[in-house]
Amino acid sequence: MQYASWMEASGKSFIGEILKAAQNHSMISFAGGLPALELFPDQALQRCFQRVFEEQGKPALQYAQTSGYHPLRQWLAKQHKRKGLEVAIEEIMVTTGSQQGLSLLAQTFLDPGDVVFVETPTYLGAIQAFQSFRAQMIMVPCDEQGIIPEELEKMLKQVTPKFLYLIPNYQNPTGKMMGLARRIELLRVAQVYDLLVVEDNPYGNLRFEGEALPDLIELGDKVIYLGTFSKILAPGLRVGYVVADPDIVNHLCLTKEGVDLHSNTLTQRAVLQFFNEGLLPEHILNLRTVYRERRNAMVQAINKHLGDEVEMIVPSGGLFLWARFKKINNSFDYVQATIRQNVLYVPGEVFYSDGRMTSEVRLNYSSSTPATIEEGIQRLARAIRE
Ligand SMILES: Cc1ncc(COP(=O)(O)O)c(C=O)c1O
Repeated sequence: MQYASWMEASGKSFIGEILKAAQNHSMISFAGGLPALELFPDQALQRCFQRVFEEQGKPALQYAQTSGYHPLRQWLAKQHKRKGLEVAIEEIMVTTGSQQGLSLLAQTFLDPGDVVFVETPTYLGAIQAFQSFRAQMIMVPCDEQGIIPEELEKMLKQVTPKFLYLIPNYQNPTGKMMGLARRIELLRVAQVYDLLVVEDNPYGNLRFEGEALPDLIELGDKVIYLGTFSKILAPGLRVGYVVADPDIVNHLCLTKEGVDLHSNTLTQRAVLQFFNEGLLPEHILNLRTVYRERRNAMVQAINKHLGDEVEMIVPSGGLFLWARFKKINNSFDYVQATIRQNVLYVPGEVFYSDGRMTSEVRLNYSSSTPATIEEGIQRLARAIRE
């Protein structure tokens, strides 16, 4: 079959392989990015869907506006500030998860060969979205707080990217958090070079310690914000959104028209019902408590079973722990050994847009209980020593 040329470059889906291995019931998987299944508020959501049917009836099943369900956009606008000001409804659009936001951005902004700056390393789904529109990704050097503004500035003197993509809160895959001073400095550099910044924030609400920091879109000029309810409600709902300048929203809506006309309108209404019943804040508090315990369990288990063999970044929120094995060269080579021990991680190289070899791995703690985490890390230690 004659497929588009970028498909050849993208090779086969490694994540698909890992998810297939995760189907085995005796497998302990730290590989997915899954929120805890047992914490989904399924009964409350069932009631919300029921109420939408009872109170809104057939119009809830009709074709709807591409930009999203108006009352939901109103609710979303109230959750944000842009450049310190209220957000207008024209600055909001609903997407089918924030993954669609990424894909729409790529389709709307990128011509083949265009450059996009990304963090080192970055979210695999963003690499896939940008790659499918034939972008050239260049990684900006990072330290423990993410993008280093001086390095960004050096690169901007040589190359003009279409935009910079970053995840400032509890980054995927590293769990890193960008401090306030760093945010301000990054935006100062962005302003000098008229750089468009894409801020992806699925994890900001999953904070275990410390204070919440302002979003980049609150502080900067040319920022596009991507939000989602996948990690704080349920990913199967596929409700995400974009906050941006109205002109950008209009362009993204034009692209979205050709992709899916609009996101699922019934779900948008049910999700808004959930928010209007005031159920979200308590649910988030519960997620934080449970995920904090699981994070702690993973840190303890690593210290106990892998001790001085591993260097890790202890995340202060989010779903992932990033670790480096000191005694191996390439974590990819150990995937088969870990599968034999019935445990899974994601080898770090998939998060580098240049596919470089690395001894790093991403471990997800949110979808396993503390006891399973302890057992899984023990298996991992066995696999690495095998
Ligand atoms: C950084 C980042 N962006 C976007 C997404 C996509 O999320 P959604 O379920 O909203 O499409 C994820 C999911 O793991 C993610 O980690």
